[in-house]
Amino acid sequence: MQLLLAHREGPVEHLTLNRPDVRNAFNAEMIAELSSWATGRQRTPDGVRVVVLRGAGKAFCAGADAAWLAKIASHSEDENVRDATATSRMFRALDELPMPVIGRVHGAAIGGGAGLVAVCDIAVASEDAVFGFTEVKLGIIPAVISPFVLAKIGPSAARELFVTGARFPAARAYKMDLVHAVVPDAELDDTIDRYVAEILAGGPEAIAAAKRLIRDVSTAGSAVETATVTAKALAARRASAEGQEGLRAFLEKRKPRWAQ
Ligand code: COA
Repeated sequence: MQLLLAHREGPVEHLTLNRPDVRNAFNAEMIAELSSWATGRQRTPDGVRVVVLRGAGKAFCAGADAAWLAKIASHSEDENVRDATATSRMFRALDELPMPVIGRVHGAAIGGGAGLVAVCDIAVASEDAVFGFTEVKLGIIPAVISPFVLAKIGPSAARELFVTGARFPAARAYKMDLVHAVVPDAELDDTIDRYVAEILAGGPEAIAAAKRLIRDVSTAGSAVETATVTAKALAARRASAEGQEGLRAFLEKRKPRWAQ
């Protein structure tokens, strides 16, 4: 991998978007690397219990690479659909990772960069970070990111921000739950460390099941289906070795094995 750097610190995997010269705008190669990393982690978590995603250099991510988009625009419709589908699959693969993803957002998160923030479970932004769904300014639309963005900010904010393409500050991103904490740049890492510590104190299988639960409940078709999905999910956790260990540890006033 070159456009995506990955390094491990025990159960934490740090991922860095690495095209700083173009503010980490993603092209076909970076999409392929992110997709392949995410599908690999879905199949083999390999002890990774939390992922921290960041951008190298001055910004988190400036979205799709405009030069790449301009180039593929001249390709056939089939090729364009294939490329857009690959981008959509990348966001889905990141969204469905079993372990939590924390976004470390500094500088700018624009277009698909804001889409990447939307597929993070937790996003921590620096006070001076700038966001925007600016696609209409380029005559395009925030299409493949829209399901993930809508799930975070809701249709009302999306209607305003998708049609204006206006840039907005971290304080606004916080207000609409796109990010979960806004701190001075110098405090980004400490804030993320605190989130990491919270996550490492939780059962890894339970955390993966909790992420799955949110998805399943959001997509359940009826109240009956919701009741079945939630009851089965709870029963499975209670019966699991991890669930039994967690409950026993609480009753025995000790730390569960996964938190030691
Ligand atoms: N695609 C391709 N190149 C991009 C890019 C993108 N999405 N975003 C930035 N770049 C390039 C710039 O063209 C510039 O290249 P140059 O050095 O050859 O001139 C370089 O990255 C640095 O950009 P610059 O604007 O000078 O950096 P900045 O730190 O002042 O601002 C941003 C950073 C992200 C706020 C700004 O680059 C920006 O608004 N980019 C456009 C984002 C966008 O519209 N994304 C939606 C794409 S669908």
